[in-house]
Amino acid sequence: MSTLATTVDGLKLPNPFIIGSGPPGTNLSVNNRAFREGRGAVIAKTVSLDASKVVNVSPRYAKLLATSGEVIGWENIELISDRPFKIWEDEFKRCKDAQPPGALIASVMEEYNKDAWIELIQRCEAVGVDAFELNFSCPHGLPERKMGAAMGQDPDILEEVCGWVASATKLPVWAKMTPNITHIEEPGRAALRGGATGLSAINTIRSVTSVNLDTLRPDPCVEGYTTPGGYSSKAVKPIALRMVMELATMTRNEFPGRSLSGLGGIESGEDAAQFILLGADTVQVCTGVMKFGYECVKPMQDQLLAFMEKHKFATLADFKGKSLDYFTTHADLVRRQTERKAAQKAAAAAPSKAVKSDAEWTGDDFIKQSDALSKG
Ligand SMILES: Cc1cc2nc3c(=O)[nH]c(=O)nc-3n(C[C@H](O)[C@H](O)[C@H](O)COP(=O)(O)O)c2cc1C
Repeated sequence: MSTLATTVDGLKLPNPFIIGSGPPGTNLSVNNRAFREGRGAVIAKTVSLDASKVVNVSPRYAKLLATSGEVIGWENIELISDRPFKIWEDEFKRCKDAQPPGALIASVMEEYNKDAWIELIQRCEAVGVDAFELNFSCPHGLPERKMGAAMGQDPDILEEVCGWVASATKLPVWAKMTPNITHIEEPGRAALRGGATGLSAINTIRSVTSVNLDTLRPDPCVEGYTTPGGYSSKAVKPIALRMVMELATMTRNEFPGRSLSGLGGIESGEDAAQFILLGADTVQVCTGVMKFGYECVKPMQDQLLAFMEKHKFATLADFKGKSLDYFTTHADLVRRQTERKAAQKAAAAAPSKAVKSDAEWTGDDFIKQSDALSKG
């Protein structure tokens, strides 16, 4: 019998499905709902000490539709939580006091200021959160204040900030990576060197979804203008899988035992299985919840279990990272293919051995077998 239960960085999770930071984790009511529906953990919407600097606009989403009408890409220009930190402290405490079945993870972000980071971490820890995710990856709005992706794109700063956080808490700390960078292993390596216990990837991809051909204005259009946003949902899954593969390979070689949480376009148990096969310990879903509702976790769990049972994997550890070994260089692909074709050609050209009994005659080799017998 397969099980989805897993322990990651000491966190005992009933299953690997986690709410990714964003609207699905934006207040106590929705976080409680996420646990009730069976999430293994919830990563709340990103918080900072001073929410008064966070001013959201509307509309702030733009969707890319397939010809079937299905939403396949989702751009947002939403900022981190605009709710006062005092309210969050109260809600974290009430959420934990209710003893949810999984982990409550605080997603945090601050400016380049050691005291602010330490205060944020310690105040969250004091109200009982189980772990932290450091948001080094929001691609819009916050980078103008040198936060989010602006930090995540600078490995030196990342290492330093992870060091501040690691010195302030013994709880697990996952550094959430931005995909808006050429080599994601570089910030990943810096975060782990700085003391993060694990990595999460990916946040959204900087994007412009569309331009309205009547008004000539790009979407989402706020007072006639827009700003590039962050892209998520199904369309980003191939990019997320590639980046998770690169981070998992780096971690396996240089920081064995550190954890990895994969996200980006996950909508099914089969999607989750692919992230785990490429090295993820857990999987997060954000936009999927906005498309399908909180109850989407149940079919995802069933699909992942069915995959495990089909392959006789008893635990997630049995297949975590199993597909990483099937990546190689293009030159090696060429070598392997050349060798296989040469072997096939040689086999076709090889003379047949003379049959020793009538049972050995085959229809495909009939002429060669006849020839072999005429040569004695
Ligand atoms: C509307 C919206 C708001 C988001 N807000 C946050 C946030 O506050 N903090 C954060 O770390 N990521 C945030 N994200 C990014 C998601 O957590 C996730 O990294 C990304 O959307 C890719 O996963 P998905 O395709 O499952 O959504 C947000 C995403 C969306 C769509």
